[in-house]
Amino acid sequence: MLFLKTENIGRFGKKAAAFDLLHQTVNAYNQDIGITSIFNPIDVYTNLEIDPEIATSTVNDVVFYLQTLKAPIQRNQGDAVVKQGATIFNQINCASCHKSELKTGYSPIKALSNKTFAPYTDLLLHDMGSGLDDGYTEGSAKTYEWRTPPLWGIGLSEDAQGGNYFLMHDGRANSIESAILMHGGEANNSKTGYQNLSQSDREALLKFIKSL
Ligand code: HEC
Repeated sequence: MLFLKTENIGRFGKKAAAFDLLHQTVNAYNQDIGITSIFNPIDVYTNLEIDPEIATSTVNDVVFYLQTLKAPIQRNQGDAVVKQGATIFNQINCASCHKSELKTGYSPIKALSNKTFAPYTDLLLHDMGSGLDDGYTEGSAKTYEWRTPPLWGIGLSEDAQGGNYFLMHDGRANSIESAILMHGGEANNSKTGYQNLSQSDREALLKFIKSL
């Protein structure tokens, strides 16, 4: 990889292996669909360096498109039960990983520069326990480590996937509740916190998550 610098921090991908959208994009072109670029010129089938199969301007356009996609806006923000759920989300420390507020740094794209946004992730890797260890690794991530996935848009994903949820890294959870109950490792206390909630508090928490 021409531009790989070891001091970069991973942000994208289930194992946080890609450090920016350009890195993620050229890896996807190369490894998922076998198209080489000036950034990643080694052909995955022959292992040979070949001429770029895609123009650099096209790669840059795709990255710009991804950078400027609009995030889904939270629905029912004023709903009392949704607000109660948000409080519980903080109380049982879901927000320690699923961070409700991050700030961008400088960006040459003005609309993205120094902006506060609500992704519900810290973009960091966490030990999620043996139940989520599937023996797969990437970069320096351990087999049981996963990057906190953003929860923005999660309430819309059911409709977008034919009325089904496919949550967690391999889609094994078919509801938000079952995803929560699969949390282990560093997130074990939050899971226990959820299990100790009253039925109505659980429902409020789930309603809040579905509003995202
Ligand atoms: C220690 C960090 C941590 C804490 C605390 C935590 N989570 Fe997570 N959460 C994760 C990680 C990492 C994953 C992805 C695991 C995987 O893909 O196997 C995840 C996945 C999820 C998912 C599935 C998202 C998706 O797109 O697949 C939901 C929903 C979720 N968490 C909600 C919660 C709630 C609610 C709480 C509090 C009860 C909570 N989390 C606490 C780190 C955390």
